[in-house]
Amino acid sequence: MSTPGTVSSEEPVVDSGRTREWPGSSVSRVPYWVYTAADVYQREQERIFAGPFWNYVALAAEIPRPGDFVRTFVGGHPIIVVRAEDGAINAVLNRCAHRGLEFCMERSGNARRFVCPYHQWTYGLDGSLRGVPFRRGVQGNGGMPADFDPAAHGLRRLAVAERNGVVFASLDHAVPPLESYLGARMVGYFDRVFDGRELTVLGYQRHRIPANWKLIFENIKDPYHASLLHVFLVSLGLFRADQPSRVLMDETGGHAVLSSRRGEQRHTDATADIANLDTALRLADATMLVPAKEFAGPETVVMQTLWPNLMIQQQTNTLAMRQIVTREAGVTELHWTYFGYADDDAEMTRRRLRQANLQGPAGLVGIDDWEVLAYNQRGLAACDDAAAVVEMGGHGTEDTEHMVTEVAIRAFYRHYRQVMGL
Ligand SMILES: [Fe+2]
Repeated sequence: MSTPGTVSSEEPVVDSGRTREWPGSSVSRVPYWVYTAADVYQREQERIFAGPFWNYVALAAEIPRPGDFVRTFVGGHPIIVVRAEDGAINAVLNRCAHRGLEFCMERSGNARRFVCPYHQWTYGLDGSLRGVPFRRGVQGNGGMPADFDPAAHGLRRLAVAERNGVVFASLDHAVPPLESYLGARMVGYFDRVFDGRELTVLGYQRHRIPANWKLIFENIKDPYHASLLHVFLVSLGLFRADQPSRVLMDETGGHAVLSSRRGEQRHTDATADIANLDTALRLADATMLVPAKEFAGPETVVMQTLWPNLMIQQQTNTLAMRQIVTREAGVTELHWTYFGYADDDAEMTRRRLRQANLQGPAGLVGIDDWEVLAYNQRGLAACDDAAAVVEMGGHGTEDTEHMVTEVAIRAFYRHYRQVMGL
């Protein structure tokens, strides 16, 4: 098992003498070892998270002033996103160019420079090496060789792109421009939430899930489970299998949108009359479910997944970025950033925060997912020599106008196999 943050050389996808071969040519089967094997995880770090793809890393609103930084991750690679003196946003690997330390351990802050604690090598906000203690030696002894060039020993820089306050980074500078990477259709849904208005961070949640990162990503591409696992949603009318719904993908299959809308009686009724439902279950405080219409179009829920690490959540009025941080094949962290708009009034902010109780690590809906995903990983890890059956809605990868489908999971694996060479 590799340490998160390391970049290793290319290795064939073999483990304990097993060569990795996808079962058949279809994506209706997904071999369990993609969720369990250390060698597959390592290849994902190289090809996916260090590959030519844009990873979500921050909201620009988190780092408004020069020197503001956040410490985060691209897959398992530790990085720092920092606002430079000139206002530009830089992303650098959180790894000292001297001995390789993950030198920054603060979650966020404001800095004029970064100093590695071990030997105090010092870097500017652009990652350039600004200081090496005892570089000229002490009293004529030691020091770095005369040909040591500080310009060649800065922090590794990532490519950075920002769209409407959302910051992405890539370890591979050959990454295409963000807009063509997302494609016009995904940009359209992205801009539905990120329309250029200034954003405000409302809070964070983080949790560690004993499951492979793809299970977490697939969960939000899987409308099939939503009306079955989440009794809360059905009982309280937030989501039902007969609602008008859509599953849309981009051309690669890596990105997707799941959208749905509540029945008209709730969609148009700002008081959310829960008593209309055929169920004995009630919330003692129903204010959590009172929606306010704010986005264009009829959808009340839009979940957008952007390859490889971002889920954008718009559930009624609660908005969140869910960032995947990989730890090892069977362990993933999910980092949530809840946000609103700078021009929200106090009541809208309260509404967003109340509705945030639906999701998150202990959310009334979300908690079901984290529990079953742990069970999922346990079952796979115990014996990974079989394959998942992903046939709901057929074998295809085309857009779908209902939710009784696993089409977005198949589309994901079409892209995954191509990127991973499997
Ligand atoms: Fe779920």
